Amino acid sequence: MLTGPIGVFDSGIGGFTVVREIFHQLPDEEIIYFGDTAHVPYGPRPAEELIRFATEITQFLVSQKAKMIVVACNTSSSLALDRLRAKFRLPIVGVVNPGADEAVRVTCNGRVGVLATEATIRKGMHRQRINEKSSQIKVFGQACPSYVPFVEAGKCRGPEVEQATREYLQPLLAADVDTIILGCTHYPFLQPVIRAVVGDEVLLIDPACHTVLQVKELIQRGVVSARDPLTGPPVHRFFVSGDQAAFVRVGGPLLGKPIAENVRQVCLDSSPEAGQAAG
Ligand code: DGL
Repeated sequence: MLTGPIGVFDSGIGGFTVVREIFHQLPDEEIIYFGDTAHVPYGPRPAEELIRFATEITQFLVSQKAKMIVVACNTSSSLALDRLRAKFRLPIVGVVNPGADEAVRVTCNGRVGVLATEATIRKGMHRQRINEKSSQIKVFGQACPSYVPFVEAGKCRGPEVEQATREYLQPLLAADVDTIILGCTHYPFLQPVIRAVVGDEVLLIDPACHTVLQVKELIQRGVVSARDPLTGPPVHRFFVSGDQAAFVRVGGPLLGKPIAENVRQVCLDSSPEAGQAAG
């Protein structure tokens, strides 16, 4: 049976919304996390580049003995999940389908909004999944390009965030959605501001909870092994491709744990430009 830590990755600290849910639902498990902060934001990048990043990161997490991978990024899940599953032999869970399936389950008026990155909205995987389950449901996508830079800078509230939120939400509220998927793992950190704009009637879905339920199920079915708590408390490790200090400063408080001791910087970039830059 597959043993080792659970590998989790994102463009930056957005995947921490999934990590905190793993801490909650699976407190004995160990995590090995990769935040691709040298390349954040992913949203404006082309598909081929996003597939290459996801492949390199998964390769790295496999080399670090991850027993499974959680693609804690809607953009990578939308663009690269099929390619990763075709290439790697370990279980790989994405965040798009868990969020989409929950929206199908809870919407009452059949009008669902998706807040996500430009690349995720362009690819339309939430819409595709929702309409596979129920062709009657209308899906309204809204790209939110300033959200990821806000969160990566540790700015989760304040006038700028509120102004952007009013702009992003206006078309979805005009479309009378009763459910909104927070379709980027960074966005649940902005939930209080989003909630203030949408009011209490609209359901906000953070896919993290439903994603981790899938991880739990893989463990319960014995596809991957549960970590033995008698081996000691779990030790989580974090890798970043960009600025390590910024990752620690902003990410630690959002995760609710000090992480400085366990963060390392690594460069995985095999692109021709990176090779030239490295000489
Ligand atoms: N947090 C990621 C997602 O879920 C990526 C955001 C980005 O880097 O643009 O889509």
